[in-house]
Amino acid sequence: MFLKKKQFSHFYRYPGRKVTKKISKSNIKLLNEYYDSYSYDKALIDYYADQMIKKNFIVPKGNFEKLNVEIGFGDGEYLIKSAISKPNELFIGIEIYINGVAKVLKKIMDQNINNIKLINMNSLFFINVLSSQSLDKVFIINPDPWNKKKHNKRRLISYENVKMLMNIMRSKNSIFITTDSERYLKDIREIFRKNITELGKVSICKLSQKDSLYGVSRYQRKAIDKGKAIYQITF
Ligand SMILES: C[S@@+](CC[C@H](N)C(=O)[O-])C[C@H]1O[C@@H](n2cnc3c(N)ncnc32)[C@H](O)[C@@H]1O
Repeated sequence: MFLKKKQFSHFYRYPGRKVTKKISKSNIKLLNEYYDSYSYDKALIDYYADQMIKKNFIVPKGNFEKLNVEIGFGDGEYLIKSAISKPNELFIGIEIYINGVAKVLKKIMDQNINNIKLINMNSLFFINVLSSQSLDKVFIINPDPWNKKKHNKRRLISYENVKMLMNIMRSKNSIFITTDSERYLKDIREIFRKNITELGKVSICKLSQKDSLYGVSRYQRKAIDKGKAIYQITF
């Protein structure tokens, strides 16, 4: 599957960047041998080939009590920790950065973790085909801030994507985002202020050490080390 990627390259792009980063031979081998058993990529690609319009991609949840998603898990630190701490829940990790995917796949196998599934695509291809009320929780830990005005449109948290995400959640206040970007935060606040009737209220708070989403990733800790505040956005 991994070898066939070129054929489906549009699934693996996201605005502003193509994923071209070098990947080691050992990671290629690992992905080629084991990735399909731990991923939904093939199921999603098959789904798109068959039914472009319907929104009813079914995630095989098995006996797991809850279905959670982390978008842009980076090197997977928070994803792995979450899955280990909640063995009765299924965690889907979505990341287009292939080296991050390989790293997590290795940890899943080394530690025998059976409640993580991976998607190595632009997350919008997954979110877009889920039927409403599919997910229990979504986590997005420090999405790319795209702070320059001309790059704002590349952001994951846009009005359209907020609406799409809200629609697939089982309940309100189950989408958790963190950021160290004051500009991103301001723009997210603005999205909700302008569309309050449709989207409802957003809750925003500055995190401190005692909060569960504080310091949970390398990217976040780098920001903390530079003296930046970490904010949590919940809706
Ligand atoms: C700023 S990094 C943060 C990574 C990680 N959450 C952390 O805090 O260390 C954002 C990550 O989101 C991933 N990403 C951005 N847009 C994405 C998308 N549309 N679908 C999947 N992953 C995405 C990037 O590849 C990158 O690894």
